[in-house]
Amino acid sequence: MLGWDELEKCCQQCKRCSLYKSRNKLVFGSGNKKAKLVFIGEGPGQEEDKTGIPFVGRSGQLLDKILEAVNIKREDVYIANIVKCRPPGNRDPLKEERDACLPFLRNQVALIRPGIIVCLGRVAAQTIIDPDFRISKDRGRWIERKGYFLTATYHPSALLRDPARKREAWEDFKLIKEKLDSL
Ligand code: URA
Repeated sequence: MLGWDELEKCCQQCKRCSLYKSRNKLVFGSGNKKAKLVFIGEGPGQEEDKTGIPFVGRSGQLLDKILEAVNIKREDVYIANIVKCRPPGNRDPLKEERDACLPFLRNQVALIRPGIIVCLGRVAAQTIIDPDFRISKDRGRWIERKGYFLTATYHPSALLRDPARKREAWEDFKLIKEKLDSL
């Protein structure tokens, strides 16, 4: 396991898959390195690729609003993605891209040792929790694995596309906050 500085350097130099060729900035992850709660998204979008910071575009702004509504401070959590370089045209990251990048995320989680990991959307849930995970059916359930409480909810971009799902997401986030308070 690498320490933070070495890990970030390694990511910045990474050529384990071809996404590095088209990226502008690598999006390493950001937030509190002692967080009890880690959010995992899918991969950088256009704004994230420009800034190098996860969840700063429209999805990120919605995530910020949701966090504020349930009284969770963004500076108290850590946010990262399944892949650290933007897939061209925001396509889903391919299996080989996810597999190549995952050891970096695992290293980050091992350094943080949060109590809770929340997957945002299908790609993160299927990569981290279960390859057959279906957000509409399995969201909001909690499992305990290797000392972490894991759950998944809608990706904010899904909520932007279909605001009717916000009510379910709100229920999920209330439970996330309860779980956080119970740690
Ligand atoms: N969508 C994601 O999954 N991650 C980001 O960082 C931004 C948008």
